Amino acid sequence: MYISIAFALFSVQAINALVLKHGVGKLPALGWNSWNAFGCNINETNILTAANQLVSLGLKDVGYEYVNIDDCWAVKTGRDNLTGQILPEPTKFPSGISGVADQIHTLGLKVGIYGSAGTETCGGYPAQIGHEYLDAATFASWGIDYFKYDNCYVPANWTDKYVACVPDQWQKYGPYINGTCAPSTSDAPPGYDWSQSNTSHRYEIMRDALLAQNRTILFSLCEWGQADVEEWGNATGNSWRISGDINPWWARVAEILNENSFLLNSVNFWGHNDADMLEIGNGNLTLAESRSHFAFWAAMKSPLIIGTELETLPANLLDILKNKYLLEFSQDEVYGGPATPYKWGTNPDWTFNATNPAEYWSGVSTAGVLVLALNTLDTNVTREIRWSEVPHLDAGSDAFTVKDIWSGKNLGCVQEGIKTMVESHDTVGKL
Ligand SMILES: *[C@@H]1O[C@H](CO)[C@@H](O)[C@H](O)[C@H]1NC(C)=O
Ligand SMILES: *[C@@H]1O[C@H](CO)[C@@H](O)[C@H](O)[C@H]1NC(C)=O
Ligand SMILES: *[C@@H]1O[C@H](CO)[C@@H](O)[C@H](O)[C@H]1NC(C)=O
Ligand SMILES: *[C@@H]1O[C@H](CO)[C@@H](O)[C@H](O)[C@H]1NC(C)=O
Ligand SMILES: *[C@@H]1O[C@H](CO)[C@@H](O)[C@H](O)[C@H]1NC(C)=O
Ligand SMILES: *[C@@H]1O[C@H](CO)[C@@H](O)[C@H](O)[C@H]1NC(C)=O
Ligand SMILES: *[C@@H]1O[C@H](CO)[C@@H](O)[C@H](O)[C@H]1NC(C)=O
Ligand SMILES: *[C@@H]1O[C@H](CO)[C@@H](O)[C@H](O)[C@H]1NC(C)=O
Ligand SMILES: *[C@@H]1O[C@H](CO)[C@@H](O)[C@H](O)[C@H]1NC(C)=O
Ligand SMILES: *[C@@H]1O[C@H](CO)[C@@H](O)[C@H](O)[C@H]1NC(C)=O
Repeated sequence: MYISIAFALFSVQAINALVLKHGVGKLPALGWNSWNAFGCNINETNILTAANQLVSLGLKDVGYEYVNIDDCWAVKTGRDNLTGQILPEPTKFPSGISGVADQIHTLGLKVGIYGSAGTETCGGYPAQIGHEYLDAATFASWGIDYFKYDNCYVPANWTDKYVACVPDQWQKYGPYINGTCAPSTSDAPPGYDWSQSNTSHRYEIMRDALLAQNRTILFSLCEWGQADVEEWGNATGNSWRISGDINPWWARVAEILNENSFLLNSVNFWGHNDADMLEIGNGNLTLAESRSHFAFWAAMKSPLIIGTELETLPANLLDILKNKYLLEFSQDEVYGGPATPYKWGTNPDWTFNATNPAEYWSGVSTAGVLVLALNTLDTNVTREIRWSEVPHLDAGSDAFTVKDIWSGKNLGCVQEGIKTMVESHDTVGKL
């Protein structure tokens, strides 16, 4: 799987990647989205509260800029009977989406909206298929800056002839062993070009509709990793989901981390694997798990979209979201590639394992080489980072200047490596 993706990158993606004006989409998007915090219970009060919180909590100052309205914002019963336009639900959005967008823009932030490449959104609201250009024009006229495009209610005549393997528990295309699905009669022939699939075309139509507007709109694909999106995502959107939805508990965070760890060849400037929105502040993630979740989402250069109610977010979790070193790694203007595993640790290298993904990672950045060591076990253990094992470190040297990414403490010049106790599901990070 790894090899074929690398091959496809060279044959397909370099051609016409989605490069937008003003650098939009070059780096992983930073922002907030309503879904993980509120689900369908949204209205202009909680959207504007989140926008104001991004400013007052200092999140805007460290780079978070998008305020994204997820599903359930439209009039559910249908479009405008005369114009065919999609309509904001007036009881939820008395100012309309454009009124909310104006207020978000006044704060110096940008605004996102949500739709689906099907007949209805996942929540059963009007969606875009067959209305792409009209809706793109409507979104542009409202001042929309970011569009998340989901994958629900795909009409029967838009389904793909073949089914690509997505080794994710939320998808029906299992069973899979070590990241590879069992052979099936719906498999594509070897070398099949997924950029010619109906799924790819559904998303291309929307891309073209957005590009036809006199407005820069970041395009976020949410097609759950299907139809081998890593092959064509870079030409179609600025980011693409690689899995089904995330949940606010560690087992799911670890599972998505494992899946994405095999797909990182498709990540670079202008195109990013989306490991889904952050769950920090939600569910039963511990402080250690929240640290690991954020560290790896930043290190993999996934978009970092906060998904919690900000007024009630504890200060120690806010600090994680504002971690200077991880945000700098994510937003590096010089190095576009993600951190990648250099050793699996608990399991043999290259083992696909949902509960115990790769534990030792490194990546190059302007500030130096970021090294992460994760403890996937349920007990506290010792983890050892040996400089000699870390790619990108000068092999001729056995001592490096080290900083701890959580405390910011300078550890001075450290010989050979670092050996330290790591709490269950926690991550040590050195730079
Ligand atoms: C469109 O017309 C139908 C039938 O008259 C009506 O039920 C529906 O509420 C109208 N939709 C809107 C958005 O006005
Ligand atoms: C939005 O919902 C909150 C809580 O459910 C409510 O207090 C507020 O009045 C609502 N605002 C609007 C504009 O409906
Ligand atoms: C796309 O859908 C059409 C119409 O349903 C179907 O005939 C065609 O085989 C599909 N194409 C691919 C590449 O899957
Ligand atoms: C599916 O049907 C719609 C409506 O007739 C049509 O516009 C679209 O092109 C069809 N899709 C494919 C893949 O043929
Ligand atoms: C496009 O938008 C810009 C900035 O909003 C505006 O100045 C310009 O007139 C618009 N161009 C067209 C062709 O509408
Ligand atoms: C995606 O396209 C951009 C712009 O052409 C390019 O810089 C980047 O390297 C591409 N990503 C990958 C993984 O090839
Ligand atoms: C967290 O919640 C999930 C889902 O309800 C559950 O399966 C898991 O056991 C919980 N974890 C802990 C440590 O309580
Ligand atoms: C899983 O697949 C990888 C890559 O194909 C292989 O190197 C590794 O040995 C496999 N692991 C197991 C446990 O089968
Ligand atoms: C995942 O790895 C753990 C630790 O090695 C192992 O106990 C577990 O059986 C593995 N899971 C699967 C499905 O192979
Ligand atoms: C694991 O480490 C944490 C943090 O140092 C500590 O609070 C906890 O008691 C330790 N757990 C065990 C089982 O030693």
